[in-house]
Amino acid sequence: MDLVVEGRLFFAGGLTDGCVGIKNGKIVKIAKTLGSQDRLSLPNHIIIPGGMDMHVHFREPGMTHKEDFYTGSKAAAHGGTTFFLDMPNTRPPTKYLSDLMEKRTMAEKSVVDYGLHALLGPVSKPQLAEEATGWKWYYGPSTGAEAWTDIAMAKEVLASFSSFTTLHAEEPSLLDNPGTDLVGHDLARPVDSEAAAIDKIAREGIFGLHVAHCSSAQALYTAKRAGYSAEVTLHHLLLDTGSDLGGYGKVNPPLRKKIDRKALWQTFLDGGSVVASDHAPHTMDEKEQEFQLAPAGMPGVEERLPVLMALAKRGAVPIERVVDACCEKPGRLLGLDKGRLTEGCDADLAAFDPRELKEINEGCVNSKCGWTPYLGQEAIFPSHVVARGKLVVEKGSFVGEKGHGRYVGHADAPSGEGA
Ligand code: NCD
Ligand code: ZN
Ligand code: ZN
Repeated sequence: MDLVVEGRLFFAGGLTDGCVGIKNGKIVKIAKTLGSQDRLSLPNHIIIPGGMDMHVHFREPGMTHKEDFYTGSKAAAHGGTTFFLDMPNTRPPTKYLSDLMEKRTMAEKSVVDYGLHALLGPVSKPQLAEEATGWKWYYGPSTGAEAWTDIAMAKEVLASFSSFTTLHAEEPSLLDNPGTDLVGHDLARPVDSEAAAIDKIAREGIFGLHVAHCSSAQALYTAKRAGYSAEVTLHHLLLDTGSDLGGYGKVNPPLRKKIDRKALWQTFLDGGSVVASDHAPHTMDEKEQEFQLAPAGMPGVEERLPVLMALAKRGAVPIERVVDACCEKPGRLLGLDKGRLTEGCDADLAAFDPRELKEINEGCVNSKCGWTPYLGQEAIFPSHVVARGKLVVEKGSFVGEKGHGRYVGHADAPSGEGA
């Protein structure tokens, strides 16, 4: 064995002392005790599968002043995330096969494994579906992405070259001009617009979608009724229109009222949804502009798991729910041998010392954008992170290698696993 990691493992749905044996980047054995010269002994540490983040914007190409594949993947590693799925709203957008192939070369500098979405639209071609991990369908408009509302044509494209497909669901006809503050933004892109979009698309007979960033319980229910899998974000779970964030809190879909946020949290606890970050870094200068001009989106790839691990320590969410939402279910949805502490899976692990609970401050930020909407929130950052068998974080410091990450290609549409 190349490495044995020892600690309190999240195994078979609970925590138990044990060892993970790793060889050639794979988990080859899980047992109470395992012998090996190279061992990482982490008593009292909770060891979970490496996080899988199904929704990040690493801004390459075109906006590398906000993030790039190296800085973004490094931030992911610091947060215990060893796989990310990147979005196509770059400059240029990932629309043609040549765009995707160029992006694949750029992404080779990633320190953790990754997948890439291609943009679904009128010029989509089968070869793009074969080479990309999945489609991203902007049915509603968002930062750097125009809406594509031709449902009939989208249905045709998805029927002839199907792939895992993530949907940005906001009904364009219900969206208004941007408001001047968080409350106004919530009203301008109303909570009903998500359910309306999901419902309309489902009624046209499009199956097997994955709904991004559901901001309300209603959107989650509607996705479930349609048989779609669904994602919630850390920001919609923890921040609301009462947050003191101004333009930094502007995001699509918007942060909602506290009462809506509480209902979303409850529905998330009930199970089914995955948690993604929708890590959407913008510079502080851009966010400091007048609210109406500030671009929508906020970072979160490195805060997602640490904040949820702190909430688990406080008893606000069971750890099984955190592992399911952040690691296991994303792996299952994408059909990958990742996201589980199981023999035969990739050796992606994150180790957390519950005694290292702290409040997030500016010093915690590794993302190139240099800010976080989670200042003051409690978090447990992982002390050690293993990505496909290699240590990328050791005692909280980055020890990873540029280019260690590997591309994960075409993923099929999930068959019938709803939200
Ligand atoms: C995202 C971005 O900035 O790329 N912004 C956002 O408000 N969520 C785009 C998106 O996910 O819709
Ligand atoms: Zn979106
Ligand atoms: Zn997004």
